[in-house]
Amino acid sequence: MAERYSKIESRATDGSLKIEAGRFLRAPVVVGVVSRALPHPKIPEFEQLLSAAAAAMNILHAATALGFAAVWVTEWYAYDVEIAQALRLAEHEKMIGFIYIGTRTVPNDERPRPVIEDIVVDWTRS
Ligand SMILES: Cc1cc2nc3c(=O)[nH]c(=O)nc-3n(C[C@H](O)[C@H](O)[C@H](O)COP(=O)(O)O)c2cc1C
Repeated sequence: MAERYSKIESRATDGSLKIEAGRFLRAPVVVGVVSRALPHPKIPEFEQLLSAAAAAMNILHAATALGFAAVWVTEWYAYDVEIAQALRLAEHEKMIGFIYIGTRTVPNDERPRPVIEDIVVDWTRS
């Protein structure tokens, strides 16, 4: 990761390279979720892509149900072609994200949440 980062980021410093080298060491388990969507006579590729995202969400739920902390991130390396090759993705495969799983050591950061009435619409047939 650090090797690739040093090639694409001319402003890389010893500090940032150290962070890149440690990316996958931030949790004891990191699951890369890959979409293998391909043209199909019945299943739109978009839906295949959504299925991979649903699988990622299920992994988050399963890890949480088992008492672990789990975080889904993409960050730059989910979109980098050479990292994808290093992880042996085929050309049509897409990295949906990485799920970091471990034992919680710090409380979750909270952030502002939307007002539910602003984003949910009740619809009734008239
Ligand atoms: C597809 C996807 C990609 C994400 N990529 C990043 C990322 O690159 N960097 C990051 O800090 N968080 C990333 N996150 C985490 C979100 O920013 C957010 O923290 C997480 O979804 C938890 O949401 P919540 O605070 O509403 O529970 C990603 C989440 C998802 C679902």
